[in-house]
Amino acid sequence: MTSVLVLGGDGFCGWPTALHLSAKGYRVGIADNFSRRLIDEELGANSLTPIATLSERLSAWKQLGYGEIPFYEIDLAKDYAQLLEVLKEFRPDAVVHFAEQRSAPYSMTNARHKRYTVENNISATHNLLVALVELDMDTHVVHLGTVGVYGYDGSELAMPEGYLDVIIKGPDGRQYQRSILYPTQPGSIYHMTKSMDQLMFQFFAHNDRLRITDLHQGVVWGIQTDETRRHESLINRFDYDGDYGTVLNRFLLQAVMGHPLTVHGTGGQTRGFINIQDTVTCIRLAIENPPHQGDRVKIFNQVAETRRVRDLAKMVASHTGAQVAYVDNPRNEAAENELEVLNLGFSSLGLNPILLEQEEFHETLQIVERYRSRYVEATVAARSLWTRHQKPGTITKE
Ligand SMILES: NC(=O)c1ccc[n+]([C@@H]2O[C@H](COP(=O)([O-])OP(=O)(O)OC[C@H]3O[C@@H](n4cnc5c(N)ncnc54)[C@H](O)[C@@H]3O)[C@@H](O)[C@H]2O)c1
Repeated sequence: MTSVLVLGGDGFCGWPTALHLSAKGYRVGIADNFSRRLIDEELGANSLTPIATLSERLSAWKQLGYGEIPFYEIDLAKDYAQLLEVLKEFRPDAVVHFAEQRSAPYSMTNARHKRYTVENNISATHNLLVALVELDMDTHVVHLGTVGVYGYDGSELAMPEGYLDVIIKGPDGRQYQRSILYPTQPGSIYHMTKSMDQLMFQFFAHNDRLRITDLHQGVVWGIQTDETRRHESLINRFDYDGDYGTVLNRFLLQAVMGHPLTVHGTGGQTRGFINIQDTVTCIRLAIENPPHQGDRVKIFNQVAETRRVRDLAKMVASHTGAQVAYVDNPRNEAAENELEVLNLGFSSLGLNPILLEQEEFHETLQIVERYRSRYVEATVAARSLWTRHQKPGTITKE
């Protein structure tokens, strides 16, 4: 039986992934330090859905007749000795690495958050790679990166899957062919850490022949998966605050609450999107199709489609009757950009993704309606500013 250790398995993507793999017959373990739950407390924010404690979640899963999922409470960035022990005990065939601070706005708030995001994300990734080398384990590392590493510079070039084949004219006048990592253009400290992860992966795959897959994921939308629907205690988290709420989920929440959908700037930003159900499928497909020892890092774009933010707002507005409000953009980014992302890797493995259609909004709208009493309005507005030269956002047009 294939063993998979899910690092960050209490989070939005990690929890449904752990359940999906368990339901598919994998032997699954979870490691997490609950930092995400603690950050909610720090921000005075909450998941709109009432998420059970991890031990309640795990016992609900067991009561449904699935395998026991052991849990290791460990800070990957700090507890290196404990990480070695966990790896020695669990002996995973694959590790799925979600355990990073994942909010771009949070990473930009202040010096403390910038330093935390770098120290947490870089150390967590590096500790994992060093530990596998120290233990001489041939564990396949599947890491969740982001499409954002490519940058959103408005070019019409379809984003390749991680690598760029280039011809360089050398000083001797000859032409040299190289395949290089696509030059990163991080738009936040968070994205910068994901760019730095890529270099660590390149080094460890080459130097130590670690088998690594890096998934460049788009913005995830939706809440539930086939497995999290099976019991109320398994419900997935739903973030809607200005730091962790992702754009489409926030629009759906604002529509239910009767608030205007707040679009940053002109809403001309184009982003990649994927449904949470497809996230868990992609991760399983990545585990089932590992690279060989000595291969370069396998990079897949984990994106179903790209959409412009104002088009999404209009789509939600036409479905729900909500108003759209344009507010100052707190981010330092192009007002408008084109984005096309190739996803040949997963489509060749048979992924047939859920695409954004209005009927796909029903479940999220229903869940938001059910838990509307838990809504904390004060947390929704984006609070982080990207540069020293900005002022807090205002509604500019309705
Ligand atoms: N959610 C998205 O839309 C999205 C999009 C693209 C990429 N991703 C990537 O997917 C991964 C998971 O995202 P998510 O939305 O599930 O985030 P999340 O914050 O909900 O989950 C991350 C989990 O990792 C844990 N964690 C963080 N640092 C840790 C540490 N040092 N030691 C142990 N555990 C730690 C947290 O407690 C949390 O449970 C992230 O790396 C993120 O960058 C997410």
